[in-house]
Amino acid sequence: MKAILCTEYGLPETLVLTNTPTPAPSADEVLIEVKACGVNFPDVLIIQNKYQFKPSLPFSPGGEVSGIITAVGDKVTHVKVGDHVVALCGWGGFAEYVVVKSNRVFKVPSAIDFIHAACTLYTYGTSYHALRDRADLKQGETLLVLGAAGGVGLAAVELGKLMGATVIAAASTDDKLFVCKEKGADHVINYSTEDLRARIKKITHDKGVDVIFDPIGGGLAEAALRSIAWRGRYLVVGFATGTIPSFPANLPLLKGASIVGVFWGSFAEREPKQSMQNFTQLLTWMKEEKIKQHIHQIYSLEESPQALQDLVDRKVYGKAVVKI
Ligand SMILES: NC(=O)c1ccc[n+]([C@@H]2O[C@H](COP(=O)([O-])OP(=O)(O)OC[C@H]3O[C@@H](n4cnc5c(N)ncnc54)[C@H](OP(=O)(O)O)[C@@H]3O)[C@@H](O)[C@H]2O)c1
Repeated sequence: MKAILCTEYGLPETLVLTNTPTPAPSADEVLIEVKACGVNFPDVLIIQNKYQFKPSLPFSPGGEVSGIITAVGDKVTHVKVGDHVVALCGWGGFAEYVVVKSNRVFKVPSAIDFIHAACTLYTYGTSYHALRDRADLKQGETLLVLGAAGGVGLAAVELGKLMGATVIAAASTDDKLFVCKEKGADHVINYSTEDLRARIKKITHDKGVDVIFDPIGGGLAEAALRSIAWRGRYLVVGFATGTIPSFPANLPLLKGASIVGVFWGSFAEREPKQSMQNFTQLLTWMKEEKIKQHIHQIYSLEESPQALQDLVDRKVYGKAVVKI
C-alpha cells in the first residue's frame, strides 16, 4: 500500500511517500481502507517527537480516519466488514490502509460523507468535552474562543452557539474572523491589531467572560485570564503558539475562577461511556446539519506534507483533510 512515512523526526518536508506492506489486524483490531484523514495540530507535533504519544520510527502520521472496514480480528463484534466508520488511530492515517483497536472505531451513517466524517472526532470531540464536561457552559453565558478559526477553535465557536452562549471569537486576521462570523460568532476580536482586554471589557460591559477556550497558549493567555468574569472557567486546551503559559495564582483567587485542564484523548479512554454519549450527540447534530465543519482544503496523499506545513504556517481555516 502507499503511505506517507516519518522516517526521521522533523518538519513536514522530511516526510516521504513510499510503498509498505498492508498491515493485518490482530484479534481485537480492524483493518480500514482509508477514504479520508483529518489533519490536526497533534500530527505536526508527533512527527517532531513533541507529542504525548511517541510511535517508533518509521510511522505514518494522521490521527483520525474515515473509511470502510475490510477485515476484522476474531474477537471483534460491534463492527463488521463493509461498515462505514470513523476511527481514532492516533497515527497511521496518511496511508491506504490502517489497523486500529476496535474500541477506537465507530460506525457512521452513510449520510455523512467520508470527508466530513474524517474531521468529526478530534475537533468536535475535544471542544464538546471542553465546553460541556469541563466548563459546564450554560445558556446565556459568554464564551471567548482564542485561535477561533483553527480546528478545535471553530468547533468551539459552533458548539458554543448551539449551547446557547454569546460567543466572542478571537483570531489573528480579519479573513479568519470572517469565517468565525459565518459560523455564528456574535463578536470578533483581531488580536494582531486590537487590544484583547479593552475589547472584552467593552463587549461584556465590564463583566468579563464566563468561559475562555484557549488552544493557543503564549502571550495572550494571561491577558485573557485577567478578563475573566466572577466564577469564570479558563479551559487549558493546547499550546499552538509553542509556549506554555504560567499564571500568577492571585488571578483565579480574585475572581473565584477555575483553571481547568482538557485532555480529550485521556477522557475518551477513561470515561468511554460519557465519550460515546458525546459522540452520539455530535453525530445527531451533524446529521441535522446543526454543525458542519468548514473544510479549508482537500489534499491528496502525496500533498499531505503540504497540509501539515499549511497548519504550521497558520494558513488553515477550519479543517484540512487528506483524501486517500
Ligand atoms: N487538549 C486536548 O485534548 C486537545 C485536543 C486536540 C487538539 N489540542 C491542541 O489544540 C491546539 C490546536 O489544535 P488544532 O488542531 O485546532 O490546530 P489548528 O487548526 O492549527 O489551529 C491552531 C490555531 O492556533 C493559532 N496559532 C497561534 N500561533 C500559532 C503557531 N505558532 N502555529 C500554529 N498555529 C498558531 C492559529 O490561529 P491564529 O493565526 O488566528 O492565531 C491557528 O488557527 C493544539 O495545540 C493541539 O495540540 C488539544
